[in-house]
Amino acid sequence: MKLLTLRVGSGSPENRLTVFVPIPSIMPMKPITRRRFIAYSSEATATIAAGSTVLGFPAIAEAQSPGDQIVLALIGAGGRAASHSTGMSRLPGVEFKYVCDVWKDRGAGIMQDLEKVQKRAPQRISDMRAALDDKEVNAVVIATPEHWHALATVWARQAGKDVYVEKNPSISIWEGRKMIEAARKYRRIVQVGFQNRSGPYAASARDYIASGKLGRIVHVKVYNMLDGSKWEPKPDSEPPAGLDWDAWLGPAPEVPYNPGRHLNWHPWWDYKGGTLADDASHQLDLTRMALGDPPHPKSVLCIGGNYAFQSQREVPEFQCITYDYGDFAMTCESGNATNYLRKFPGEVRFGDKWPHWPTSATRVEIYGTKAMMYLGRHGCGWQVVVEGGKVIDQDKGYFPDKWHQPNFIDCLRSRKQPNSDLEQAHHSACLVHLANTSYRVGQKQLMFDGATERFTNSEAANALLKPTYRKHYRIPEQV
Ligand SMILES: NC(=O)c1ccc[n+]([C@@H]2O[C@H](COP(=O)([O-])OP(=O)(O)OC[C@H]3O[C@@H](n4cnc5c(N)ncnc54)[C@H](O)[C@@H]3O)[C@@H](O)[C@H]2O)c1
Repeated sequence: MKLLTLRVGSGSPENRLTVFVPIPSIMPMKPITRRRFIAYSSEATATIAAGSTVLGFPAIAEAQSPGDQIVLALIGAGGRAASHSTGMSRLPGVEFKYVCDVWKDRGAGIMQDLEKVQKRAPQRISDMRAALDDKEVNAVVIATPEHWHALATVWARQAGKDVYVEKNPSISIWEGRKMIEAARKYRRIVQVGFQNRSGPYAASARDYIASGKLGRIVHVKVYNMLDGSKWEPKPDSEPPAGLDWDAWLGPAPEVPYNPGRHLNWHPWWDYKGGTLADDASHQLDLTRMALGDPPHPKSVLCIGGNYAFQSQREVPEFQCITYDYGDFAMTCESGNATNYLRKFPGEVRFGDKWPHWPTSATRVEIYGTKAMMYLGRHGCGWQVVVEGGKVIDQDKGYFPDKWHQPNFIDCLRSRKQPNSDLEQAHHSACLVHLANTSYRVGQKQLMFDGATERFTNSEAANALLKPTYRKHYRIPEQV
C-alpha cells in the first residue's frame, strides 16, 4: 500500500506534525466516482444539517449555481494548499485553473500533481486578481497566511466568486464582521477551514450534549498544549529571489524583509496571533459546535508569558484564558512548551485507536452535572466518562477533510450553506481575538458586548478591534 505524507498544522515547525496515511483511506488512487462523492458529501451534509444555522443570510440559492463543472483558483501554494489541491482535484468535475503564489519557488509540487490529474494544466500566477478577473473561475481556495484572508475573501466576493478560506478566517474582530457583510451582500458561499465541523463525530457530540445526557454543562476546558522550542529573533536581510515581499505583506504594516517573519509568521500579531490562532482555533471551534454554538462570551481574561524558554516572542509561549458564558465558564490553555504532550497520532486520526487523554495535547473536557465528555479533533471523536474512568458512551471519528472538501464543492452546486459557515467561524475566531486583546492590553479582564462587538470597559481594547491597513490593501468600511 502506498503512503502519502500529510502535513497537519502549519507554518512554524513547532506546530507541525507529519503523519503517514494509506492513500486509499483519504483519497482513492482512481478518480473518485460520482456515486462515492455524493455518498461522502451528503453523509456529512445530512449529519451536520440538523444543527446548522443560516443566521440571517439571504438565500444563497438566488445566486447562480456553477453547474457540474467547477473551476477553482488556489491562492497561496504552501503546505495546506497542497492538501486542498490534492483533495479537491480528485472530486468529479473539479479543476484548478490557477495556482497563485507571491513566491515563485512555492507550489512546484502542486503544479506537477495537477498537470498529471487534470485534462488542462493549471496556470501559475503571482497576483490573485488575475484569477478574480477570470469569469470562468467559480471559486477560490485561500490558503495564504492569515493577514491576507479577509481582504482576499472580500475581493473574491466583489468579483462574484465563492470562497474556501482557511482558518483562522481573520486577524481581527472588525475584519471578520466585514467578511460576513460581504458574504451577505454578494450572496456567495463561504466555507472556512474549520474542518471538524464536517466530522460526523462533532455532530454526534453536539447531539449527545443537547440530549442532556451529560446533565447541565457547568465547565469546559479546552487544551492546546503543543511542543515548542526557544524562539530566536533573526536579522533583516534581502528577500529571497522570486519573492514579492511587498505583496506578501499585503495589508500588514510595511517592514524590511526578515526571514523570521516570512518563514515563521505565527508568533506575530500582524500576521496570525500565535498558537491560539493557528491551532487552538480548531479546538475552540469544535467546542463551540459541540456546545450548540453559544454566542459571544460576556467577558474574557488572558494571562500569559514566555514562561518556558524566555523567548522574546510578541505572542507569548503560553496563554491561559477564561471566558464567561454566564451559566458556565470555559478555559483555554494554549502554548508551545509542553514537549511531553502529543497531538493525536495517525492511528487515532485515521484508525480505530483511542488516545491516552491525559497526555493528549489537543483535548477538550466538557463537564456536565452528570458526566464528563472527552472530545478530540483531527477525527479523534469523543468518550463519556463516569466515576472510576468507566466509558459509558463514545463515537470514534476520522480526519474530517474527506468530508469538508466535498461539502464545499457540493455547496457550490447546491447553493446550500456549507458546514463551516462564516458566521459561526467568525464567532469561533473571535474567541482568539478576544483573548489576544485581553493579553495585549495588559492581561486585563475585558467586558464584551456581543451585539455591537465592542468592549465596554477598555478603549485600549477597542483600538485593537481593527488593524491599520496599508494603502492599496485596505478593506473598506462599506464592503
Ligand atoms: N485547516 C487546517 O487544518 C490547516 C492546516 C494547516 C494550515 N492551515 C492554514 O492554511 C493557511 C496556510 O498555511 P500553510 O501552512 O500552508 O502556510 P505556508 O507558509 O506553507 O503557505 C502560505 C503560502 O501563501 C503564500 N502567499 C502569501 N501571500 C500571498 C498572496 N497575497 N497571494 C498568493 N500567495 C500568497 C506564501 O508565499 C506561501 O507560499 C494558514 O491560514 C494556516 O493557518 C490550516
